[in-house]
Amino acid sequence: MAYDKHKFIIITFLLSAFLCYTCYIYNSLPRKASAMDEQSSAGKLIWQKYNCGACHQVYGLGGFLGPDLTNEYTARDTAFIKLFLKDASVFTPVMPVFNMPESEMDALLSYLKSIDASGKSDLRTFKVNSNGTIEQ
Ligand code: HEC
Repeated sequence: MAYDKHKFIIITFLLSAFLCYTCYIYNSLPRKASAMDEQSSAGKLIWQKYNCGACHQVYGLGGFLGPDLTNEYTARDTAFIKLFLKDASVFTPVMPVFNMPESEMDALLSYLKSIDASGKSDLRTFKVNSNGTIEQ
């Protein structure tokens, strides 16, 4: 009889610990809404149209032939990126020359700017919390 009572107490304790921890984790999730503006959304479509992701990563996802471009906007200036997009063959024989119109280039730049503002590509700069989640 006393044995059953102990079992009940232990199970109740474990269940409440599980529920408390679950509530804590779900309530402390980062809730940063980063809605993309229209120009950046158009840039994302251009990114997909020219298949930049085949060779480049954003947020760590994509191809590995070229560098990760998540923080390209901070690392380089607009003029450099535009120059690269206009004629990459000056810098590298690997990246294709896209000959894209100025409007597409502007949208792409806006997309690169928005991902730069919302993510980091260098995992070493992430903060690991005690509950196992990570923060940028
Ligand atoms: C076939 C592969 C390939 C594709 C597709 C490609 N790139 Fe690249 N890209 C590269 C490589 C390789 C480099 C690195 C060149 C170097 O520095 O030697 C590069 C470099 C760059 C850089 C300069 C990075 C830096 O800071 O040095 C930018 C910006 C860039 N690419 C943007 C784009 C965009 C935007 C697209 C899509 C429109 C694209 N690339 C498509 C291969 C590619």
